[in-house]
Amino acid sequence: MKINKCYRNIEDSYLFSTISKKVSEYKEKNPQADIIRLGIGDVTRPLCPVVTEAMHRAVDEMSKIETFHGYGPEQGYKFLRDAICKNYKELGVDINSGEVFISDGAKSDVGNILDLFDKENTVLIPNPVYPVYVDTNVMDGRKIIYLDANEENKFLPMPPNGIRADIIYICSPNNPTGAAYSKIQLKKWVDYALDSKAIILYDAAYEAFIEDDNLARSIFQIDGADKCAIEICSFSKTAGFTGTRCGYTVISDELKFDGMSINKMWLRRQSTKFNGVSYVVQRGAEAVFKEEGRLQVMESINYYKENAKIISDLMKNFGTWFTGGKNSPYIWFKCPSGMKSWAYFDYLLEKTNIVGTPGIGFGENGEGFFRLSAFGSRENIIKATERIKSLKALAQ
Ligand code: MLT
Repeated sequence: MKINKCYRNIEDSYLFSTISKKVSEYKEKNPQADIIRLGIGDVTRPLCPVVTEAMHRAVDEMSKIETFHGYGPEQGYKFLRDAICKNYKELGVDINSGEVFISDGAKSDVGNILDLFDKENTVLIPNPVYPVYVDTNVMDGRKIIYLDANEENKFLPMPPNGIRADIIYICSPNNPTGAAYSKIQLKKWVDYALDSKAIILYDAAYEAFIEDDNLARSIFQIDGADKCAIEICSFSKTAGFTGTRCGYTVISDELKFDGMSINKMWLRRQSTKFNGVSYVVQRGAEAVFKEEGRLQVMESINYYKENAKIISDLMKNFGTWFTGGKNSPYIWFKCPSGMKSWAYFDYLLEKTNIVGTPGIGFGENGEGFFRLSAFGSRENIIKATERIKSLKALAQ
């Protein structure tokens, strides 16, 4: 029996597991500490009423013989796929329900989609980046080319000259940097992918935070993207489904490589390895797109956006260099006094009891940077900013 030796090439622990362990150790030594968690981007607001009402109704259906549901369609119930198509239509994107695949979240799809691609492919990944893109490719042994995202390009790298890759990762609004590509910039990425016959894996998990019209909510708003891109999206950040689990992936019928339809391959993969998301959860997700659902979901998003503004105002007051905070729930900033990311993590935890995410955890170019999440409660965000202010924990 031979193991997958590529696992030797990844860190022993996933970034957020390492942070969680460090915080537990600190809490054990300092049981009185009032810890404010602004590290992992986990939501704190409950599911909105329209969603839970729909889920309650669905549970009742499951309790009666006439309305009980067994195995659902692997691709997801049509009612949810239709609701997603209607939502895309409002963005000016025409897709059909056969192009939508419901899953238990973006993270699973981001990892699983690699089943469709040969391990010989070269992958282009920005640095810093959501660690799942890197780790899942390292697990498969693919060659990775890193694309520098940095202060100079405001953490929005553009297609590199003279370098080609087969698989390109883009996340916009970006995790971890909160920076978001404009439609004009994304068009350049689409043209680059089409020219080099590459595929773009586009992570749109944070699209609901976009408020500026020049930014894209979906890669499919860009001409030609249906022929080169897969979009992966999630209800986690849009509607607070981090613990409920539901996401979706859109693959156009037009997307073909080597004469094979990527849509058909994904359907084949999903129907073999996945048995769909529960009926109850899909009914909850469907409710997000109802008129009332949209309003309720927007209320939470606006709440987090206001949190993000409070944190970015703090950065402005200290004259700290940062990205995000607008069109994104993340604020990515330069650690004060040239501190390294993990040193600042320890400093912040010890002096202010605030947990953030060290930039280096997202790649080498994240060294010296730090990420705060705006998904906390308002009370905690205000408390955190006051602690930072009184300790001058951002002073250069
Ligand atoms: C993050 O904090 O980067 C995200 O919450 C992780 C995720 O969505 O998996």
